[in-house]
Amino acid sequence: MPDLSGKVAIVTGCASGIGAAAVRRLVADDAQVLGTDINAEAGQELCREIGAEFLQQDVSDRSRWSEVVTHAIDTFGRLDILVNNAGLVSGASIGEGSDEEMFAAWDHVIAVNLTGTMAGCRAAISAMVDNPGGASGSIINIASTTAITPLPTDVGYSASKAGVRALTKSVATWCAKQGHAIRCNAVIPGATETGILDATEKELPGFKAAVAATSPMNRLADPAETAAAIAFLASDECPFMTGADMLVDGGALSIHPGF
Ligand SMILES: NC(=O)c1ccc[n+]([C@@H]2O[C@H](COP(=O)([O-])OP(=O)(O)OC[C@H]3O[C@@H](n4cnc5c(N)ncnc54)[C@H](O)[C@@H]3O)[C@@H](O)[C@H]2O)c1
Repeated sequence: MPDLSGKVAIVTGCASGIGAAAVRRLVADDAQVLGTDINAEAGQELCREIGAEFLQQDVSDRSRWSEVVTHAIDTFGRLDILVNNAGLVSGASIGEGSDEEMFAAWDHVIAVNLTGTMAGCRAAISAMVDNPGGASGSIINIASTTAITPLPTDVGYSASKAGVRALTKSVATWCAKQGHAIRCNAVIPGATETGILDATEKELPGFKAAVAATSPMNRLADPAETAAAIAFLASDECPFMTGADMLVDGGALSIHPGF
């Protein structure tokens, strides 16, 4: 298990799914964790149970980011890890619905998934450069296999996740060029058993079984399996990994579509 003792982490979207699993895993690996979520009730309850700090946050609210980072520094004295995990689907495809519906769905999913992730990177870097002992840190952005094989049924989600992938590489290389020991990597989950799939299942019955079958393992991921990759990237085990895409997809993107 990676040793995260002495490290301080922020995990967004901590109230359920992959974010909740990440908080559990990072705390188990001895990090001090501040979880945030737009859902205050569920986030608060989970963090209390696990022994993490909690703050309510809408990641698309720009001004809230500096308050969240300041809270982590005031509480724990430094910031080593940011997991930009909060995200949602829009359920809007390019040719359907009214313009009003399409643009509202697009603006919201881009604001949360992409702009929220960028705002998190920016706020975290400004704190990580001032860490006691010198600039250091690890940012983990949660993208999706839909960044590479997009969903015809959700143009905004797919585009936002492709954006997260490119954003990750830009952040990673900027930090490296500055000489900062701040890494930034993307975790690319395949279909994972969380509430986000339930939303799509409602629209498209049978979706879960269909996406499980895209993996040669023929199953969905357990969120704890994704959290294990997050903990590895958060640790000092991989100091030369930055700008990477870490697939946690049960081989879904590795198999020829004919098989
Ligand atoms: N489950 C999958 O199959 C899958 C696959 C690939 C990528 N992902 C990504 O993993 C991440 C976590 O999703 P999940 O699967 O655990 O889903 P989830 O719905 O269980 O969790 C998402 C969390 O984000 C929170 N959230 C939503 N909007 C927010 C906002 N504006 N500000 C702060 N918090 C907000 C929700 O309250 C929720 O707790 C997302 O970025 C998602 O796109 C999931």
